[in-house]
Amino acid sequence: MSIKTVQTQPIEGQKPGTSGLRKKTPVFMQTNYLENFVQAIWNGTGGAAGKTYVLGGDGRYFNTQAAQTILRMAAASGAAKVIVGQNALLSTPAASNLIRKRKADGGIILSASHNPGGPTEDFGVKYNASNGGPAPEGMTQAIFEATETLESYLILDAPDVDLSKIGQSALGDMQIEVVDPVSDYQDLMQSLFDFDAIRALFASGFRMRFDAMHAITGPYAKAIIEDTLGAAPGSVVNAIPSEDFGGGHPDPNPIWAKDLMQTMFSDDAPDFGAASDGDGDRNMIVGKNAYVTPSDSLAVLAANATMVPAYAGGLNGVARSMPTSGAVDRVAEHLGVDCFETPTGWKFFGNLLDAGRATLCGEESAGTGSDHVREKDGLWAVLFWLNVLAERGASVQEVLRDHWGRFGRNYYSRHDYEAVDSAAAHALMDDLRSRLSALPGSTAAGLTVISADEFAYDDPVDGSRSEGQGLRIGLEGGGRIVLRLSGTGTEGATLRVYLERLESEPSALEDDPQAALADIIAAADALAGISARTGRAAPDVVT
Ligand code: G6P
Ligand code: ZN
Repeated sequence: MSIKTVQTQPIEGQKPGTSGLRKKTPVFMQTNYLENFVQAIWNGTGGAAGKTYVLGGDGRYFNTQAAQTILRMAAASGAAKVIVGQNALLSTPAASNLIRKRKADGGIILSASHNPGGPTEDFGVKYNASNGGPAPEGMTQAIFEATETLESYLILDAPDVDLSKIGQSALGDMQIEVVDPVSDYQDLMQSLFDFDAIRALFASGFRMRFDAMHAITGPYAKAIIEDTLGAAPGSVVNAIPSEDFGGGHPDPNPIWAKDLMQTMFSDDAPDFGAASDGDGDRNMIVGKNAYVTPSDSLAVLAANATMVPAYAGGLNGVARSMPTSGAVDRVAEHLGVDCFETPTGWKFFGNLLDAGRATLCGEESAGTGSDHVREKDGLWAVLFWLNVLAERGASVQEVLRDHWGRFGRNYYSRHDYEAVDSAAAHALMDDLRSRLSALPGSTAAGLTVISADEFAYDDPVDGSRSEGQGLRIGLEGGGRIVLRLSGTGTEGATLRVYLERLESEPSALEDDPQAALADIIAAADALAGISARTGRAAPDVVT
């Protein structure tokens, strides 16, 4: 087996976004595209020589082929060892766990998360650091800079490695260990939650439906929820991962998981419903006739955390991304712990978790997690809810009502305008940005603006500053509008408009969120000219 040096040239646009480099699959399959980026990962992180990596992905089209290329490149650049999930599969949280547990130097996760997969859909490569979390901004910048000056990459001339058998092998001088993707993760879950209590809950006739959306969590959920915790066989649906996620869009929200929503709002609804995304880090929680927004879920978990063995000693603090609703802020206040507001992107929680300043974190984009790994974790959130329901002996709806009664309700919704012309979307943002300082005191759709700024984050742990993280507009009466452009799309621009209002009046806690937010929605359009500039009469996705 010989090491080949392949001459190449920088390829434009290899700048990692909110969560790694995501492109259409055919782009990734172009000559040298993947190879260039992987070589830039090594070059931007001090080289691969002597390093141990974790490697796996969500099983989408091109996953295995990409994994084989990365193994050959790691071996050629002198990596000591790569720990790979069987058949190159690993959920994102399971990869994060393995990096930490095995004290690896880093990991590469092959996924475009909740974006559809397949020959004409999306693919992605994400580098995680030795803490198990997404590379921080400084590291992704160094990787990007390495893509811009690349002249060659190294790759071993070798046949494919057999990734179907668990065990050790070698590729050139590099060790390869193929591991069961589920077992270490399952051990971790068992160490955090009261599995006996959840088992007793299922034994009492509690019914649930977990929709794996043809993606990576199928095998994890079958092993844990059905085989270990005793949920009835068939509780986990769409459990076999497929390369194109069954032709679907593996994003656990009411739009894309609509079968689950229909089931949960039908006469024969089970007690509990949940779903996860392509790579297993997102979650959706839904009770009988009760959808739980991710922002509320974070607040409820924080308020009930001491019922779970891992968090029985209390929380060090909580953190949420800026566009996530303020529901958890009031829980933190009640608990007397810090609440941090970070930019969108799980990587911003890393320092807070590493420093022990936050225990639970969450984002409106269906991500919830804790210091057990350095990624958000879909199944973890589901097990957390199950543990709380088992302890409280209450339904999801009862838990929510009780929570809103105590803390008030943050009506919340996100309106997405997808594949908008990029220039038009940037013009909308630029124009609003330029008017921000003049907005306070003015009115929009009858509501008075009391504050307006562009969010910047000063990391309290390492002092780094991240600017340009979203436009925030505060309205009289506790309403808030946030606008930002997505950093994970692969086509045009996606404009996200986040809408929120706190309601504390006991008789007004169970209204339809779109109706409860109607004034704020109108104000957002008046302030930013959304329909005029995007040419859309309505958002493409409402969560
Ligand atoms: C990924 C990241 C999240 C982020 C989400 C939305 O899932 O891991 O941390 O909240 O994308 O990002 P976007 O830039 O598309 O709004
Ligand atoms: Zn994901």
